[in-house]
Amino acid sequence: MPATRTPARFYAPLAIGAPEPLRQLPVRLERMIHFVPPHNPKIRARLPETIAGVDVLLGNLEDAIAADEKEAARRGFIEMAQQHEFGATGLWVRINALNSPWALDDVVEIVASAGPKLDVVMLPKVEGPWDIHYLDQLLAQLEARHRIGRPILIHAILETAEGVSNVEEIAAASPRMHGMSLGPADLAASRGMKTTRVGGGHPAYGVLADAAPGGGARAHHQQDLWHYTVARMVDACVRNGIKPFYGPFGDFSDDAACESQFRNAFLMGCVGAWSLHPKQIGTAKRVFSPDPGEVAFARRILAAMPDGTGAVMIDGKMQDDATWKQAKVIVDLARLVAEKDPGLAAAYAF
Ligand code: GLV
Ligand code: MG
Repeated sequence: MPATRTPARFYAPLAIGAPEPLRQLPVRLERMIHFVPPHNPKIRARLPETIAGVDVLLGNLEDAIAADEKEAARRGFIEMAQQHEFGATGLWVRINALNSPWALDDVVEIVASAGPKLDVVMLPKVEGPWDIHYLDQLLAQLEARHRIGRPILIHAILETAEGVSNVEEIAAASPRMHGMSLGPADLAASRGMKTTRVGGGHPAYGVLADAAPGGGARAHHQQDLWHYTVARMVDACVRNGIKPFYGPFGDFSDDAACESQFRNAFLMGCVGAWSLHPKQIGTAKRVFSPDPGEVAFARRILAAMPDGTGAVMIDGKMQDDATWKQAKVIVDLARLVAEKDPGLAAAYAF
């Protein structure tokens, strides 16, 4: 049995009256997905400034929200969506897992009351394309019922061993797919990894340098526990025209380690990360906006090869058609950042 719809049917709406699925993701800057508990009054009071300061605001209904607060969080999210204008800031919700008692009402109630404002549903603990197909169909039915004019997208969290095994099929499951985030905490538990940390490295996971002939201390270099998964996720996402993200970094006392984890993800192709603490917003902005020096060099490459072909030397470094494409990735991102951030626009000299 074929695992996916034929090309002719892939972009057909899944319910009569549902909007046409998108053929391409909207171009949006999503350097951080900022998590808030939507029922918390202190957080709610600060929402206007928070909305203005982030690329994506996400109401979290899943883990970290206690079982007896799930319904208050869902109501809080609906109120928050109804009471605020979001402008260029994305509005997302992380619903509860599909096997939980809350998931169905999360989707049904939120689309009914906040559907027109909702950009993306983040779906946790995705195991395979079947989870995406279920939510895809349900969203289409609800979009049709509530006459929602544009499709609500799905963002999967990659956080189980089975999900990682099926990452390609998840990324390709539907034109409703927006992207994927690495969920290092659940993934560590699911795989039986021996770490209690939320993201980042572990001092014991590394490579020991060879013993020197005369003895003496041997260097031990920490390695990135998430390299393999991030690499698989980036390839699966990019191949399907969707966006890869690093997820949470849980040690709020170690800003340098957070920045380093975010930067590894950025360099490997991720477009953003989660911010769980307000101070991680600035970290994500800094890391997921290209460095002005790198942008200036990339612009020199583009200027030196106006049609993108040939070979030139710049500062002793060989440039050709491939480095032209690398430079274009950086300059395109810088332009997107510059549209939103006048400070960086000036630093990029646009
Ligand atoms: C995020 O949900 C994680 O489990 O790391
Ligand atoms: Mg999780």
